Amino acid sequence: MSPDNRPIGVFDSGMGGLTVLAELVRLLPGESFIYLGDTARVPYGSRSPRTIQRYSREVAGYLMQSGIKMLVIACNTASAHAKQELTESLPLPVIGVIEPGVNALLARTRNRRVGVIGTRSTIKSSAYENQIRRLNPSVSVFSKACPLFVPLVEEGWLDKKITSLVVQEYLSELVREEVDTIVLGCTHYPLLKKAIYGEFPLLQLVDSSVETAAEVKRELEKEKISSSGSPGSPPRIFLTDLTEQMRQLEKLFFGMPFQSVEEISIGEGNIQ
Ligand code: DGL
Repeated sequence: MSPDNRPIGVFDSGMGGLTVLAELVRLLPGESFIYLGDTARVPYGSRSPRTIQRYSREVAGYLMQSGIKMLVIACNTASAHAKQELTESLPLPVIGVIEPGVNALLARTRNRRVGVIGTRSTIKSSAYENQIRRLNPSVSVFSKACPLFVPLVEEGWLDKKITSLVVQEYLSELVREEVDTIVLGCTHYPLLKKAIYGEFPLLQLVDSSVETAAEVKRELEKEKISSSGSPGSPPRIFLTDLTEQMRQLEKLFFGMPFQSVEEISIGEGNIQ
């Protein structure tokens, strides 16, 4: 079997998907990655399904032109609305964050009462709920949109009093329903783990970024498209808008500054 050294494309509505990219780089140091953050059009989480599908098509089209071997939809909102369409239309494996998160959720719950949190658009899509029910109809699912979590994380307010209050406000409803495990169905929420455990120490939290990286590894092996194993080059980062705030967010979400970042524009012309 000859190694496949083509890059893996990863996309998100903005910078949050870097939590997924960081896990991918950690787990698969021999692979090369291209990350595209649609920072000019973030957030996706408050938009209509039709708009999210169009944006996702355009972003995927851009990455396809870079000769990728696999597409990872690091954004929960785009996974909820566009994964099916992209899987059907693109001639390569497409991995979203929802299935890996749900598999881990179902493996961890003991009382079969689970919670799903995400953006308004993700929760409204019922994508997590549908996947949970498909795999295990006897599990009770309680979902909650937590729209204030994204701005709190982007402000860097990870351990402020106000963040604990917002966590209480959003999650006490799920805790009252006696859920024992919650899937963090948004790229930003893993950064709030400490704040959530601080309020609800007995909850189990599923981090989709970790689970998605493991799924990508399995899929590369299954499809026999792993790279040669020698260290890959640093991820190439493309953003559709560059602002000062991006420099702070790259450290917050990726843990280190990018070696380089390129600003690009995408649109209808990129659709394959
Ligand atoms: N990346 C989005 C998600 O995971 C959160 C930010 C947005 O709303 O675009 O759902």
